[in-house]
Amino acid sequence: MRRKLVVGNWKMHGSLAQNASLMNEIIEGLRPLKYADFAVCVPAPYLFQAQSLLQGTNIAWGGQNVSPYEQGAYTGAVSARMLADFGCTYALIGHSERRVLIHETNTSAAASFGMALKAGLTPIFCVGETLEERQAGVSEAVVASQMIAILNTLGLDVFSKAVQLRAVIAYEPSWAIGTGRTATPEQAQAMHTFIRGQIAERDPGVANRVRILYGGSVNPSNASQLLAMPDIDGGLIGRCSLNPNEFIAICRAASEIGSQMAG
Ligand code: PGA
Repeated sequence: MRRKLVVGNWKMHGSLAQNASLMNEIIEGLRPLKYADFAVCVPAPYLFQAQSLLQGTNIAWGGQNVSPYEQGAYTGAVSARMLADFGCTYALIGHSERRVLIHETNTSAAASFGMALKAGLTPIFCVGETLEERQAGVSEAVVASQMIAILNTLGLDVFSKAVQLRAVIAYEPSWAIGTGRTATPEQAQAMHTFIRGQIAERDPGVANRVRILYGGSVNPSNASQLLAMPDIDGGLIGRCSLNPNEFIAICRAASEIGSQMAG
C-alpha cells in the first residue's frame, strides 16, 4: 500500500512572521492526522526556520530546487548538501516554473535529481506538459522524455538509489498550475497510470512502490476526488498551501482516504 503524501510548495512567498504563523497553524491542524505523510517545501532562506519549528512534528520540510552541480562558483545556487544540512527530507526537482522561467532542461533536472540522491534527499521529480502539448496530443511523449532524461543522464543504477530514498514523481501539467483549472481526476489518473507503466517496463516492483503526486490547482473541494484515484498517491499544493485552513483540509482528505485504505 502506498501512503498518501501531501506536499506544500510555498514558491517565493512568505516572511519570517508569516511563516511562523502558517507553520504553527498547520502543526496544530495536522497533528491528529495519522494516515498520510506531510511536508512543506520552503524558500531556501527559511529552511532554518522550518527546521526549528517543524522538528519533532509529523510535517517534513524540503527545498524547492537543487543545483545540478555539487559545489563551486555558481552564484545564487543551492546545493543538495546544503539542503541536507538543514534537515530537509525532500527536494523539488524540475518544477515547471523553473523549466519555463529559468530555462532548466531535462538534462539539468536529471543532474539535480542525481545530486539530491547523492546527498540522501528524497527527490520530488516534477513532470508535465504545457497546454499546447496537450492540445497537440503529445502529453505522454513529453512526460516520457522528461523521465527518460534521468536514465540517460544517470544510468540504470539510479533506480536502486532512487528506490532506497523513496523518490517521488509529481505530475503537474503546467496548464493547471496556479490557473484554477484542474486536471479532472480521470485525466490525472490516466497520466499517472502511464507514468507507472513507464517505470514498470523497467522494474514492476519499483513501479508499484513509487508515489506519484498530482499538482495543479488542488483545493479543498477537489482534493478528495483526486486523491481517491488509485494511482494518485498525493498532491503537490501551491496556492492552497499558503492558507492554513485550506492546506489542513487537503491533508485531512488525504488522511481520511489513507485510513479507509488501511481499514
Ligand atoms: P497550484 O501550484 O496548486 O497553485 O496550482 C502547484 C505547484 O506549482 O506545485
